Amino acid sequence: MNTPQPLKDKLCLVTGGSRGIGLAIARMLLSEGARVAICGKSEKHLAAALEELELLSPGKVVGKVADVKDYEQVAELFGFVDQALGGLDILVNNAGVGWFKNISELSVDEWATTIGTNLTGVFYCSKQALPRFGTRGGGYIVNISSLAGKNAFAGASAYNASKFGLNGFSEAVMLDARYENVRVSTVAPGSVATEFGGLTSGGDWKVQPEDIADIVHMLLCLPARTMASYIEVRPAKPPRK
Ligand SMILES: NC(=O)c1ccc[n+]([C@@H]2O[C@H](COP(=O)([O-])OP(=O)(O)OC[C@H]3O[C@@H](n4cnc5c(N)ncnc54)[C@H](OP(=O)(O)O)[C@@H]3O)[C@@H](O)[C@H]2O)c1
Repeated sequence: MNTPQPLKDKLCLVTGGSRGIGLAIARMLLSEGARVAICGKSEKHLAAALEELELLSPGKVVGKVADVKDYEQVAELFGFVDQALGGLDILVNNAGVGWFKNISELSVDEWATTIGTNLTGVFYCSKQALPRFGTRGGGYIVNISSLAGKNAFAGASAYNASKFGLNGFSEAVMLDARYENVRVSTVAPGSVATEFGGLTSGGDWKVQPEDIADIVHMLLCLPARTMASYIEVRPAKPPRK
């Protein structure tokens, strides 16, 4: 008997697919037979990711430098996806940034970049994706939020604001789009072993990027009648405080 491959030939875009969690999600999608576009801000990180992913799945991956907080660049990115993949079935809004410092030290630019990337960028990409899903009879948006979308902590004012906002946005879009056969899920991780926010990726106790990719895989493979709209993912045994 053939194993079902629900993601085979699906057309996917992963923002921030050049590193960390986004790269792990791109690997997972390719290994399931999907065709994948990724974007990132840095040409160097994008090129390195594309080289690795091309080896994994020759001819199935493309990428473009695009800053999700710039609407013109987002529109160009989706035009590129149209050309390269010929449509879109799955959007993973993963690109994100964070600065962790007291409000008195947080600059106006850091605030704008955090909200622009983590919240407005998700709106821009969703706005571009939804009409494209319409032409394919439906689609799926996965938004990578954070436990910081529900729990405020000192030194995270901009990051908290962006992810609290993202959770509300994501839930509202889920309710808006469900009757157009579009499912929307929010994944809210705790500590994941990446270099996010300038952190070192170490720590065996942390969730691995591949674990988040496994959760995304599970979401995307649920029957069309079902969606898990919000999932928290946390380290099972973080160091005791
Ligand atoms: N790591 C954690 O502990 C953790 C926990 C909870 C939630 N998250 C969330 O998970 C998501 C991914 O984080 P990560 O840990 O994988 O971080 P990461 O390793 O720093 O990777 C971030 C990715 O986003 C891209 N990116 C950043 N700003 C962008 C922009 N304006 N336009 C396009 N791409 C942009 C980066 O591209 P460049 O390489 O070009 O910069 C990179 O590919 C974020 O939304 C983050 O908030 C992470």
